Amino acid sequence: MSDFLRVRPRRIRKNEFTRQLIAESRLSVQDLIYPMFVLEGKNRSEDIPSMPGISRMSIDLLLKEAEALVELGIPAIALFPVTPAELKSECASEAFNPDGLAQKAIRALKEFVPDLGVISDVALDPFTSHGQDGLMDENGYIVNDQTVEVLVKQALSHAEAGADIVAPSDMMDGRIGQIRKALEQQGHVNTCIMAYSAKYASSYYGPFRDALGTAANIKGGNKKSYQMDPANSNEALREIAQDIAEGADMVMVKPGMPYLDIVQRCKQEFGVPTFAYQVSGEYAMHKAAFANGWLNEEAVIMESLLAFKRAGADGILTYFAKQAAQLLR
Ligand code: PBG
Repeated sequence: MSDFLRVRPRRIRKNEFTRQLIAESRLSVQDLIYPMFVLEGKNRSEDIPSMPGISRMSIDLLLKEAEALVELGIPAIALFPVTPAELKSECASEAFNPDGLAQKAIRALKEFVPDLGVISDVALDPFTSHGQDGLMDENGYIVNDQTVEVLVKQALSHAEAGADIVAPSDMMDGRIGQIRKALEQQGHVNTCIMAYSAKYASSYYGPFRDALGTAANIKGGNKKSYQMDPANSNEALREIAQDIAEGADMVMVKPGMPYLDIVQRCKQEFGVPTFAYQVSGEYAMHKAAFANGWLNEEAVIMESLLAFKRAGADGILTYFAKQAAQLLR
C-alpha cells in the first residue's frame, strides 16, 4: 500500500513551536563580536562612506558606545586604530608605542568598561607607510621573520595595556608561537590568542582599507605573498593546525560567507573554538542592497549570521553586531 505518504517532512514545519523545537542552530547575542575603528582626538566621529552606519570615533565616544554594547549583551569588540599619516613609517614602530592610539584605547576600555572583552588586532598595515601588513625589503617582498619580531612587540604592548585577546591578522609564518612565548615569558599567561589562521587574499576587504586609510597605500596592490589563495581549502587546515600547535586559543576564518566551507571543515577537523569574520565588503554589499530596497534588512541580517552558526562557528565578528543584538532583544 503506497497510497499514503508515511514521511512528510512538512509536518514538523507547520507550527512555529515545532519549528523552534527542531532548530539545529541558533544565534544569540553572545555570539557577536563588534569590530570598531578608533581615531585620535576628542569628541570626533567620522562616517565611512563605503560602510554606512559604521564610523571611526575618538576614545571618549568609543567608551560611550562600548557602554551601549555591554547594555545590549555583546561580549566583545575587535579594535582597529586609524593611524595619522605622519606616524606611519617603513619600520612601523608606532605599532608598539606604549602610548599609541590602540594601547590608549585598550587601557581606557578596560578601565571604564571592564566587562567588555577587548580583542586587539596584531598586524602592521595601519602603521606602515606602504600599507602592507609587514616590513618590506628592497624588492617589495614582505619579510617574514623580521616582521614577526615587530608583531611580538606589538602584541606585548597590547597585553600590557590590558587586551584580553590579541588577534594576529598578518599571516606571517610562526608568529603565533613567538607571540605565545613572549606572553608567557612576560607573565601574560592568561592573554588569549585568536589567530586569523585562514585569512584569504580577498577583495572583500576594500571598505575596511577605506576605513583605516590604508587602501590608497598598498604598494604592490595586493597581499597574495602572505594571505591565502581563495582557491585553497586543505592549505587552510594546515595553517589552522599549525596555529593550534603554536599556542592559539581560538582560530578564525576570514572572510566569512564565501568561506563557510572552511569554517565547517575547521570545526569538524579540530573541534577548536572557531570564529568567522563577516568582513567589510560583505557588510557593504548587504547595506547597498538594503538601501535600494532589494533585500529585507532585518531578515537578511539574521539569516546571514545564522548561517555562520550552522557552519559551526562559535562566534562571528560582524559590523551588524549592534543591529543584530537589538533585533535579538
Ligand atoms: C589587516 C586587516 C584587514 C582586515 C582586518 N585586519 C584587511 C587586510 O588584510 O587588508 C579586514 C577586515 C574587513 O574587511 O572588515 N591586518
